[in-house]
Amino acid sequence: MDDFLGNLTGITTGWEVHRTFAPRRESPRFTRNNQALKMKVTVVGAGNVGATCADAVARWELANEVVLLDIKEGVAEGKALDIWQTAPISLFDSRLVGSTNDYAKTANSDVVVITSGLPRKPGMSRDDLIATNAAIVKSVTENIIKHSPNTIIVVVSNPLDVMTYCAFVTSKFPANRVFGMAGILDTARYRAFLATELNVSPKDIQAVLMGGHGDTMVPLPRYTTVGGIPVTELIAPEKLDAIVERTKKGGGEIVNLLGTSAWYAPGTAAAQMVEAIVRDQKRVFPVCAWLQGEYGLKDVYMGVPVILGRNGIERIIELKLTNDEQALCDSSAKAVKEVMDVLDKMQVTA
Ligand code: LAC
Repeated sequence: MDDFLGNLTGITTGWEVHRTFAPRRESPRFTRNNQALKMKVTVVGAGNVGATCADAVARWELANEVVLLDIKEGVAEGKALDIWQTAPISLFDSRLVGSTNDYAKTANSDVVVITSGLPRKPGMSRDDLIATNAAIVKSVTENIIKHSPNTIIVVVSNPLDVMTYCAFVTSKFPANRVFGMAGILDTARYRAFLATELNVSPKDIQAVLMGGHGDTMVPLPRYTTVGGIPVTELIAPEKLDAIVERTKKGGGEIVNLLGTSAWYAPGTAAAQMVEAIVRDQKRVFPVCAWLQGEYGLKDVYMGVPVILGRNGIERIIELKLTNDEQALCDSSAKAVKEVMDVLDKMQVTA
């Protein structure tokens, strides 16, 4: 009852403020005590994506210690300080630490998100970034595992599937502890486009998407629902096809508008993966995972539905695909594998 009144009257002191700010009182992101989880999360790369991710991790109180690290002098410290100065406004207790390349500050992290590397410029594919970003991701991974040998690594750098492979090979960690963020971003774009088209809440749209993070990604309209209703009952086939196509090129659409790649959705999507891990939520998300025979694919990183919890990837969910869907996944895996081979030949990870 008092919660109800607190929200209704917008009282401006103590808990009432907190409740007024909380989007949903039952939201697990806002505990009654406003107490950050006893976790340590490091975000490497304090560019737009990394800073957005660290901001969400702090605001959602997913860790009592959030370390932001960058190679550029002062940038991580500056952004960490700026985010920390939102704490009295947004009412969170996560502490932020910025670091210029001092990996000792990242020691004993529970989760590390790697966002380092160059973003795309107009006219570039994600694969064009491979040589530069592989060297960066390799060196970041080496430094991270020195100080956090038991951490879980979430890779966000592009080309996503291959950079995840790079971190996996470099770390020699089991595959349940090294995976990539792309599927949540790609499904978020797909869901946002559908929400606009159908004029419904994006919260009510559920979707599965598979494949690599690139133009060969495989949205699965058969598994897309709107409040439990198959999307195919609510939208004309050609409209749905157009949305699928727009989703596949969703990253490029933003690169063309901004002259650099997106950050709000990628950074927030990575934070949602951190949340599933540190809260042991067992969320079902599309995640870039190391396949060992699932979907008939072996030794390749690709987006598949998984259960994400405190142990990282706790299970890969195998759907029964139609022949057409399987063919799309096969060609997406082939495209990823070709870039993985390029990486292997460059011997960056040797
Ligand atoms: C995107 C980049 C981050 O899809 O891959 O926006």
